Amino acid sequence: MTELKVLISRQNIAQRIAEMGSAITQDFQNERIVFVGVLKGAAIFLSDLARAVQLDATFDFIGTSSYGVRPSPDQELKHGWDSTGEIRLTKDLDQAIAGKTVIVVEDILDTGLTLTFLKKLLKSREPKALRVAALLDKPSRRKLPIEADYVGFAIPDEFVVGYGLDYAEMYRNLPDICVVPRQ
Ligand code: IMP
Ligand code: MG
Repeated sequence: MTELKVLISRQNIAQRIAEMGSAITQDFQNERIVFVGVLKGAAIFLSDLARAVQLDATFDFIGTSSYGVRPSPDQELKHGWDSTGEIRLTKDLDQAIAGKTVIVVEDILDTGLTLTFLKKLLKSREPKALRVAALLDKPSRRKLPIEADYVGFAIPDEFVVGYGLDYAEMYRNLPDICVVPRQ
């Protein structure tokens, strides 16, 4: 595998997730949580975050895709991404969330299109509470005004991989978060 520059080490990720888990435990004492992971990038984050929370919890997964407007990662690295792209659902939840406490777990909050779409969709099902936990946040790339309730790390405008995040489906299993160099 090519050597990539580490941006956030596995130790720093683990430490930050422990803090996020404690914050969620404090905020939702005696409540049961439904963690909703956004496929596929959030799978690893969800598995660590869920174990850092000392509350009854269950999880489910949801899938989204942008309508063919998002360029390939190498195009995105070269030219940036400048679309108002639409998002569609590729996999819905298996369980109803009405009246439940839901925390959407996302790998990275970038333009905000995905989470804006998901929040609207899930809110319409009338959960008791709806929160967002994002491991990474690239605030400088936002196209829609949305913030996560729990953020692991704010990062600069770099394309990152590892710990669940991919570049053309590669590198998801890297234990650290690394930067893909711009060509
Ligand atoms: P948004 O809708 O632009 O906020 O995009 C969120 C999704 O874009 C994330 O769930 C990722 O799948 C993908 N994404 C955005 N930035 C990166 C990155 O730096 N590396 C890998 N995937 C990314
Ligand atoms: Mg994703």
